[in-house]
Amino acid sequence: MKHILYLLSICFILINCKQQNSKKTEVASVENQLYAETYRPQYHFSPKEKWMNDPNGLVYHDGTYHLFYQYYPGDIVWGPMHWGHATSKDLKIWKHKPIALYPDSLGYIFSGSAVFDEKNTSGLGTQQDPPLVAMYTYHDAEGEREGKTNYQTQGIAYSIDEGETWEKYKENPVIGNETNMKDFRDPKVFWYEPTQQWILLLVAGDHLKIYNSKNLIEWNYMSEFGKDKGAHGGVWECPDLFELKVEGTDEKKWVLFISINPGAPNGGSGTQYFVGNFDGQKFTTSTSEKWVDYGRDNYAGITYNNLPDDDRTFIGWMSNWDYGQETPTKEWRSAMTLPRKLELNKDESYFLSSYPVASIFEGLDYITPSSENPKVFKDSLLNQSNIKFSLPQPLTDFEIAIANKEDDTLKIGYKMKENEFYLDRTHAGIDDFSDNFSPTIMRAPAKFLKGDTVEFSIFTDRSSIEFFADKGATVMTAQVFPKSPYNSFSIKTETSIKDLKLAHIPDIWKTN
Ligand code: FRU
Repeated sequence: MKHILYLLSICFILINCKQQNSKKTEVASVENQLYAETYRPQYHFSPKEKWMNDPNGLVYHDGTYHLFYQYYPGDIVWGPMHWGHATSKDLKIWKHKPIALYPDSLGYIFSGSAVFDEKNTSGLGTQQDPPLVAMYTYHDAEGEREGKTNYQTQGIAYSIDEGETWEKYKENPVIGNETNMKDFRDPKVFWYEPTQQWILLLVAGDHLKIYNSKNLIEWNYMSEFGKDKGAHGGVWECPDLFELKVEGTDEKKWVLFISINPGAPNGGSGTQYFVGNFDGQKFTTSTSEKWVDYGRDNYAGITYNNLPDDDRTFIGWMSNWDYGQETPTKEWRSAMTLPRKLELNKDESYFLSSYPVASIFEGLDYITPSSENPKVFKDSLLNQSNIKFSLPQPLTDFEIAIANKEDDTLKIGYKMKENEFYLDRTHAGIDDFSDNFSPTIMRAPAKFLKGDTVEFSIFTDRSSIEFFADKGATVMTAQVFPKSPYNSFSIKTETSIKDLKLAHIPDIWKTN
């Protein structure tokens, strides 16, 4: 009898294991299916399902990069905003986490930032267990509907378990809206070492407001910037401010990011930046605005808190409010740009360069085209690749064509006369999902680093293209929806191409 019982229990365990394994396989195959949708990026971050916009709360802590994001779990268009959450050890492989912040009686959870409050200045953790603190905008949709004008306020939430779970501060909002500004949002907080204070940036319609605090709870208004500076074709959104060393020198400057929608140089949403000084109270600049990215699909980007200063790392939302809610996807909508490292350069003026972080290139196996056809690649994985090449300086006219068997052709080139790069997606694939997908030709004033050659690096991922000229001295990011995967690459140029090579980039989402 004992033996029979023993055998039965072994059988039961085996059956159970088998069932659990087949459940695991089922989950994995559902996930694999989710990531198999035609335009689903394979190595960029996108939400498992439903709608995503701005990156939020970018903070590095204890070996982990946190990425929070504007998320609506109910549909693939914008709706009541939550903060979605994902983590990564290397900015390459991302792990989805449970939703971090849900709307509450004070409103939807709009964009914001997160810090590691190492000294527990807020008192929301303990000395032994200092908290991560997120600051975000409350958007009271009901108040807005009722015609109120003070419906955006600022709240905080904290986590003492590495961002797994979040507690909202009981006395929210920490900044009300007495001045009745309809657009009053997108807090970016950072630690300012010289005065041992927290600095907060908020945008208020057509300008920036700067505050300080000792404890992340009581905030002091200090100054404003921008009513008479920069582009004003739309509302100012998602600010960021950080110090960078000018490459090759010991000089340091402060860089202010302000996203704006509409009013970008190629239409709709875009991010302008200013190079100037910050003295702990005020930001000043004598220069005019420049643009982080001249493609139409890089918006609301901010940088990581709590990384070393020479590791200034940026992520943007790879879309545009002109058509972002209409792109041809079914289960999910929109992705983030590749994480990019920012550097400051100087010729007759200061300019930023941004280039994918080193981990993106690690482990890539590059191939070169055949010797019979040195300017052409034919490859079925061209829609999930990194293509690199160099051309001599001074640069002369060239044009790249990335195409498929349907004759969809995406063109990127340079016009010497205008000293301008262009990205032309006019015949690159489907474009009838929105009337606002045009203008489909994007132009960028060319900037170069010093050197004898110009290096180019292009990333394609099913429905996006990121073009980096000269280590990101000029950048263009755009969504494209080819009718079938791109499978050929060619380049027209009068000069000699050096080091043309291509690497497939592996999927980050496949589960077994
Ligand atoms: C920018 C933005 C932010 C706002 C959020 C709402 O794309 O409009 O200003 O906080 O999106 O989702």
